[in-house]
Amino acid sequence: MSKQRVLTGITTTGTPHLGNYVGAIRPAIQASQSANVQSFYFLADFHALIKCQDPDLVHQSTREIAATWLALGLDTDNAIFYRQSDVPEIPELCWMLTCMAAKGLMNRAHAYKASVDANLAAGEDPDFGITMGLYSYPILMAADILMFNANKVPVGRDQIQHIEMARDIAARFNHHYGEHFVLPEAQVDDNVNAVLQGLDGRKMSKSYGNTIPLFLPEKQLKKSINKILTNLLEPGQAKDPDTSPVFQIWQAFATPEQSAQMRQQFAEGIAWGEAKRQLFELINGQLGEAREKYESLLANPAHIEEVLQKGAAKARAYSQPLLDKVREAVGIRKIK
Ligand code: TRP
Repeated sequence: MSKQRVLTGITTTGTPHLGNYVGAIRPAIQASQSANVQSFYFLADFHALIKCQDPDLVHQSTREIAATWLALGLDTDNAIFYRQSDVPEIPELCWMLTCMAAKGLMNRAHAYKASVDANLAAGEDPDFGITMGLYSYPILMAADILMFNANKVPVGRDQIQHIEMARDIAARFNHHYGEHFVLPEAQVDDNVNAVLQGLDGRKMSKSYGNTIPLFLPEKQLKKSINKILTNLLEPGQAKDPDTSPVFQIWQAFATPEQSAQMRQQFAEGIAWGEAKRQLFELINGQLGEAREKYESLLANPAHIEEVLQKGAAKARAYSQPLLDKVREAVGIRKIK
């Protein structure tokens, strides 16, 4: 039996933070070590253009995210790790899917709808500032997934709708042109620790400006951890771990024993400063080595590029034959 295919994309905007690590990168790297799945991980740089029109930022983020995954030990012999824009079959498939995707389906996409709602609330034209990139975003995502006939797509809850749209588009294509695509399923991590809290206790997210970047230099990591929201309870006063982002972040890095110990220390009234010092030690201990690798990878961008090129060649060994069949199926053929 052929291996299950697991695929996920990382939009290359921004610098990876602890929330990305805990929620997506760490589980993906673990999963990639399993012998009975074939994993595909890619840098979604075409998707980045939807959100970010600053070329230097797109480029910098692509480099940083690639270095991050490599530094954290992604096994690129086992997992196929590539950049979306290195696989020209993806945008080509995207067009074919666009011609099968119902406009009404795209009208319901929540990222687009949120922008329309914001415009209406501001008294603007509903389409103000909305590009076709944003509107068609789910179709490009469907192409990413269907191109490799992925079975499972690990994503955050906010992306479930997009996977359902990919299924919809695939089913319509299959119905019209014959069975070419596997219908993918979203895989959502329901572990409470999969969603990390940020400095202010809300979900850690770039859009809230409450993140702790993953590879901050030691001193800055310490400073950033010191900014995590606490309350006015003094040393010696018992503290509630279950409402504390300090404890929640601790749990995401600690063993169950370490979590039990920290819970005990909260009950005994550990000082916030001390809890944060221990949190810094824990995180720094787990990321210190990877941070060094990260720095040395960034100092050698040619190596990163080479790894991505090898990944693209492996990815295209899948995408080229499938696209050939799809072209044939839709009637894009040599004249003869
Ligand atoms: N849209 C996804 C996000 O913002 C990233 C992404 C692009 C993706 N293509 C994908 C995720 C394909 C899974 C599969 O998180």
